[in-house]
Amino acid sequence: PFSMVINSSGDVINVAADETALDALVRSGYEIPCSCEQGVCGTCVLEILEGTPDHQDMFLTDKERQQNQHFTPCCSRALTPTLTLKL
Ligand code: FES
Repeated sequence: PFSMVINSSGDVINVAADETALDALVRSGYEIPCSCEQGVCGTCVLEILEGTPDHQDMFLTDKERQQNQHFTPCCSRALTPTLTLKL
């Protein structure tokens, strides 16, 4: 489990072990465009301001992965306890 902090609202959203970050965002009222939900299409990509994602997608390039400025909430998780999202 980890938490996401929404930059614009200050909302803190906990992501349970059995749900995706995308599920947690939608459950909390954030409409995130998504399509494949498998880390392939890149539709759901969000910008990260703080924290380190655990990339599980096949969409970002190696360079983007290393920069840790974006992640795909449909399948990726977090290596840090918190991810701050630009949303
Ligand atoms: Fe396709 Fe997340 S919905 S990569």
